[in-house]
Formats: sequence, C-alpha cells, structure tokens
Amino acid sequence: MTIIAVFNQKGGVGKTTTSLNLTAALARKEMEPLAIDLDPQAHLSAISGTAVSIGDNSIFGFYKELKSLEELVQQTEAGYRVIPSHFELSKVDSLFGKGPKVINRLKTGIQAEMLDQGGPIVIDCCPMLGVLSLNAIFASSKVLVPISTDFLAVKGAMQLERSLKALEHVLKKRVERRYVITRFDSRRKLSWEIVEQLRDKFGDELCETRIAENVSLTESPAYNRDIFRHAPHSQGAKDYEFLLEELASSGFL
Ligand SMILES: Nc1ncnc2c1ncn2[C@@H]1O[C@H](COP(=O)(O)OP(=O)(O)OP(=O)(O)O)[C@@H](O)[C@H]1O
Ligand SMILES: [Mg+2]
Repeated sequence: MTIIAVFNQKGGVGKTTTSLNLTAALARKEMEPLAIDLDPQAHLSAISGTAVSIGDNSIFGFYKELKSLEELVQQTEAGYRVIPSHFELSKVDSLFGKGPKVINRLKTGIQAEMLDQGGPIVIDCCPMLGVLSLNAIFASSKVLVPISTDFLAVKGAMQLERSLKALEHVLKKRVERRYVITRFDSRRKLSWEIVEQLRDKFGDELCETRIAENVSLTESPAYNRDIFRHAPHSQGAKDYEFLLEELASSGFL
C-alpha cells in the first residue's frame, strides 16, 4: 500500500492539517489509513486525541527499541489509526546518531511488521530535513509537499526540490512527489502569481486542487477534530475531499 510523507522544511505551511485531513478523507472511504506523527511538536497527536504523556508510549518508544509500531497504534473515533509522537522524539539524533541504521529505522520497522500490506500510511513530518524527516522519506514511496501561498513560498519549494534531487542520488530512484497549494486566497494577487510560478517549475507535479484559506480549517484543531467531523460542508472539507480524489485518480495514492 502507499506510504506518503507530508513534508516541507518550511514551518506552518499546512503539513499537519494536510496529513490529518487526508487521513480522515481516506478513512471516510473505508481505506483504513494509518497516520504516523513524526514531529516532536506532536500536533497531529494532540488534534487527533492520541497524545501520550510518556515518551516511550509514542513513536519514540519504537526508536528506543522498546515497542513495536503495532503496539503504539491507537484507534480514533473518527475511524483512522494514529501512532502518536512526543517531544522526546527530538532526542533521536543525539541518542542514536545519523547513520544509515537510524535513517532506515522506520522503513525497516514498517516492512518487518508488514504495515505496508495494510491501508495507506500518511507520515506527518517536522519542518526540518533531519534524521526524522529522512526516516519518513526513506520509508515512503511518495512525498506530498504543502506550499502555502505566502512570500518566500516559491523559494522554499525550490530549496526542497534541490534537497529531494540530492536524496535521489542516495536512494538511486526518483522520489515521486506532488506539490499542493494551501491557504490559497483567491482575492490576493500574490496567490495567483505563486500558482503561476509553481506551475512553471513543477508542471504536472503541482496538484490542480488548491486548499483554500478556510476558517473551519483554522478552528477544527481547537475542537480536536478533523475537518469532516468539525465542518463537513465547509470549503476545507470539500478541498481535502477533492485532493484525495485527485491523488487517487492520478495514481499517486
Ligand atoms: N487552509 C487553511 N486555512 C486556514 N488555516 C489553515 C489552513 N491550513 C493550515 N491552517 C492553519 O495554519 C496553521 C499551521 O498549519 P499546520 O500546523 O498544518 O502547519 P505545519 O506545516 O504542520 O506546521 P509545522 O511546520 O509547525 O509542523 C495552523 O493553525 C492551521 O490550523
Ligand atoms: Mg505540523
């Protein structure tokens, strides 16, 4: 099954919002998705109601070789599963280094436990290309890059493209990727300029679906809900449903 890393080294661009709502959209299609929170900020864990108070009960316990991935899975009421994170996860590189064993740890674990034989896996990454995000990219076959339509968005996207190209030399294969525009405000000229620039640079790898700036998407985390449970008729819910349809019909998912 597909494993997708949701990554952009730029902060606050909608990685967690996209990971959570794409997972929720997959659950609505009864595809039994699993979200892995690989960000020590543990926002996805908090929003999905799966946060844990002890680091060992999070994905950090897996890196410490105390727990299997399966043991860490939590089922949510919304119908998807989550492996939560914890701020202790930020110690991974200082504790275990940056060698190939630790960088491939998530991939090895997923394969050994055959989690890749189940529903799709969505990995929410932190805003940094360090050991954790490399774990996500190495474990996944595909990378989904949210880009918010603000100043420096294109510069950040180009930086990321260069990083992915460098990684392809190590992986010896092309990292399949899609860029998705988030926080799109059609009233702003800058938003349209960014769309044009990204289309020029990324062509078909830029999703047609744009996630609009939507107040329900801003509010839903405060209620510990994904957009479909919080505001099923909102533009945000429609956009994430469209995004799933586009990713599925283009064979990315
Ligand atoms: N389309 C949207 N409309 C309105 N608000 C949004 C939208 N997408 C994200 N947000 C809000 O923007 C903020 C940042 O989003 P999010 O946490 O998903 O970004 P992130 O890339 O995961 O951040 P970080 O890099 O810190 O992990 C959050 O408050 C979120 O609710
Ligand atoms: Mg996040």
